[in-house]
Amino acid sequence: MKKPIKQPLHFLLFVTAICISSVSCANDNDEKAAVNSEDEIIAPLTHGEEAHENHCYKCHTDDVYTRENRFVKSIDALSQQVVRCKDGSNVPWFDEDTDAVVQFLNKKYYRF
Ligand code: HEC
Repeated sequence: MKKPIKQPLHFLLFVTAICISSVSCANDNDEKAAVNSEDEIIAPLTHGEEAHENHCYKCHTDDVYTRENRFVKSIDALSQQVVRCKDGSNVPWFDEDTDAVVQFLNKKYYRF
């Protein structure tokens, strides 16, 4: 059974449209980015903090990260646990968001 050829074409157009619009957005922000270059550096951590705040307090507080018998013992384990918790609660994150939250938790609590 052959799949219709239309779909990939639509997808390609869609991707092209996104590329074009993000390029023009990037240009709009050029000036601001230059001025706020310091903010740019901390951006992933700030993003991680916000994403964490919005999605990660449904089942536990920050206490699980600091309790005596916490079970996350390495950066890999932290990354896996964040993925597990995210997948278990339908959090709509891209890999970049997950990475940002891992960075944030590591910087604030785990320090591997
Ligand atoms: C559906 C409920 C639920 C949600 C929502 C949730 N978690 Fe969890 N999380 C758990 C449970 C259950 C544990 C294990 C707690 C225990 O063993 O006492 C846990 C443990 C953890 C741990 C390990 C703590 C340790 O012992 O070192 C991390 C890290 C963690 N969660 C991160 C997150 C992050 C990041 C989010 C946001 C995406 C999140 N969790 C959202 C249920 C959840």
